[in-house]
Formats: sequence, C-alpha cells, structure tokens
Amino acid sequence: MKPLSDKSSSFTDSVIRRMTRVSIQYDAVNLSQGFPDFDPPKEITDRLAEVAATGPHQYALTWGAKNFRDALAKKYKHFSGMDIDPESEIVVTCGSTEAMMASMMSVCNPGDKVVIFSPFYENYGADTILSGAQPVYVPLNPPEFTFDADVLEAAIKQEGVKALILCNPSNPCGKVFTRDELVIIAELAKKYDIYVITDEVYEHILYKPNKHTYISTLPGMRERTIICNSLSKTYSITGWRLGYVIASPVIVDRVKKVHDFLTVGAAAPLMEAAVTGLNFGDEYYEELQRHYTHMKEVFTGGLKDIGLNFSDPQGAYYVMVDISEFGYDDDVVFCEELARKVGVGAVPGSSFFKEDVHNYIRFHFAKQDETLYKALDRLSDIRTKMNR
Ligand SMILES: Cc1ncc(COP(=O)(O)O)c(C=O)c1O
Repeated sequence: MKPLSDKSSSFTDSVIRRMTRVSIQYDAVNLSQGFPDFDPPKEITDRLAEVAATGPHQYALTWGAKNFRDALAKKYKHFSGMDIDPESEIVVTCGSTEAMMASMMSVCNPGDKVVIFSPFYENYGADTILSGAQPVYVPLNPPEFTFDADVLEAAIKQEGVKALILCNPSNPCGKVFTRDELVIIAELAKKYDIYVITDEVYEHILYKPNKHTYISTLPGMRERTIICNSLSKTYSITGWRLGYVIASPVIVDRVKKVHDFLTVGAAAPLMEAAVTGLNFGDEYYEELQRHYTHMKEVFTGGLKDIGLNFSDPQGAYYVMVDISEFGYDDDVVFCEELARKVGVGAVPGSSFFKEDVHNYIRFHFAKQDETLYKALDRLSDIRTKMNR
C-alpha cells in the first residue's frame, strides 16, 4: 500500500495524554492533563437541560449563533474596551484548538515562519505542521520566564516570518506578560509587519497583582491581532468545545471559510446554553479568581512545605517544579517513576521546551481540595522515594 501522508507521520504521541495513561496504570493522582475535576456553574448546566427540550438541535449559522456572538462582543467591550462587530469580527469555533488551527491556516502559506515562545503549549507544534509553517522558537528563560528583546527581534526579522503566537497567560509556565513586555512585542510586530495570533484561554485565571492586557488594545495592534480564545477554562466546560476567533473583518472573512470546511460549526445547543455564562456579571469572574487563588495556595503552599523549588505562577493553573536536586538527567523517566513510586502524575517539562531543558516537571492544580491534599500527602515522601 502507498505510504500515508508525510504530515501525519511527523506527529508524535501527546506526552500529556501519555502521562495520563501512566497515571491510570499506577493509580496515581493525575495532575498531568489540565482540566478541572469540579462542576461547571449550575446556571449553565440548568440552561443546557432546558435547551435539551427546546432546541436548537440543528446546524447554527456556520460562524456561530447570533445571540452567542452578541453576548461575546458585549463581554469583550466590558473587559477590554474593544468595540467588536459580532457580524464581521467573530467566528465561533470548536474550542480554541480549532480557532488556532483555522487562524494559522488563514495566515500561513507553506514555508512561512511563525515565532513561538518556548516553553510552549504543545498544540502549536502540530498547528505549524498542519499549516505548513516553520516554527522559530524564542526562549522564555526560567525561572522567571522573561525574554530577551534582542533575541525576539532577531527571530522576528528573519526572512519569511509571518506571525507570532502569544499564549498569555501562558501554559505551561504560568507567565502573565506585563504591559511593557507586550509593548515590546507589539512594536516589533508593527516594525516587521507580522500578525500576532493570541491564545488567551486563561485570561480570567490570574493571581493578584497580575492583570491581563489584551495586546489587541495596544496602539496599532487591533488590525494585526488575531485573538483565539474559548469558554473551556473560564466556565469549566472543556468538553463543550466552544471557542472563537476575533479579528478584523478582512481576516475573519478568511477564517470563516476555513472554519466552514473544517467543522461547519460549533454545537448549536451548547452555544445556546453557554450564552448564560457569557452574560454573567463581574462577581462570577471575581469568584473564579478567588477559587483558583485558593487552589494555587493549597498546592504551592504544600510544595513549599515539602521544600520543592518551583516558579510561582502568575496566571493559568500550572506550576513548574525544578527537579534538579533529584539527580535525574531524563525528566520523562522522572515522571514515570514519580507516578509509579510516589503515586502522582506530572508532565515532563522537556515536552514544552524547544531548548535542551530537562529539569522541570509540570503539575496542574485545577482540582478539588481533597485531590490536591492527596497528591501533596504522597509528594511529602518524594525525597525518600525519588533520590538517586
Ligand atoms: C494554552 C492553551 N490553549 C488552548 C487549549 C485548548 O483549549 P480548547 O479547549 O478551547 O480547545 C489549552 C488546553 O489545555 C491550553 O492550555
């Protein structure tokens, strides 16, 4: 038989999902794959029950139900001050995952280059392969995960660079880019005429005093920013697969077409139910921050008590722990042994870094207290069980 496609052969198995399988095999507390183990807001699930009876159950408009886009535009006005035309500047997608893929396919020709900060969310690797683009990596230097503006400029000015992907707040390192850092990125984007494709799925998961700045609101950035975002994390509905692209009409016009042929559209009944969430008032987002701050304090407080070295996250729900003290030169082996000997699942940091970094592992802490305490209890033995 003829060989299958080159593109599909270049994908590697997701390390995160592999660590989930390892966690199951050893009955470990799985803090590898990032999804909450608590329920979404009851108002949203109650509304879903109503919608089950009333519909809609057929295709929505390909670029998203009107009431969903209207509610989204209103929410963006509230949080970012941006005026967004729900007809020409929004495409509702199947999660931010599709939003990013459709954006990359709308922007890139095969051979174009895309700048990606490393460590990075693993999907961007696949997105570049599928869109035919070549990644150019710029390091975010641990433990503070800052970048060197000269290194960034050297990357952006390379011939063929078309876009930069900005994950803010960042998975895996929990970095929230400051306004000053975003100004540097924005100025370079304008100077070298590139697009900025954002991934802002953690925009509401922030730890004080960090604040989210939408790079699209910086001078001259609105027309060159393509916002990819979703409801997955903000409303704890990762399984609903609701995301969106917000960009200028010229860009959205292209994204609409790619999206139409990729998926036709997001699930109509879920869009209808999720409008309830988009209409929540400020108190919902304040409570979300309180809840995440509590989970972060429980988990990182426990890590501190155990004496582990970690980078305190500014946003998102992950923490990178430095495992140098354990004397392993392979973080994948470390994670497998951690699941087997200690009973806690983590992701090897090397799966996020392009650079040769093997001394970090990533835990996520979007979990109920009892899950976090169980993991911490097990981790309290880490030195006796893991030292070489
Ligand atoms: C940075 C980042 N972007 C996108 C996603 C996926 O988002 P969605 O569920 O909207 O496809 C995740 C999920 O973990 C993520 O961490």
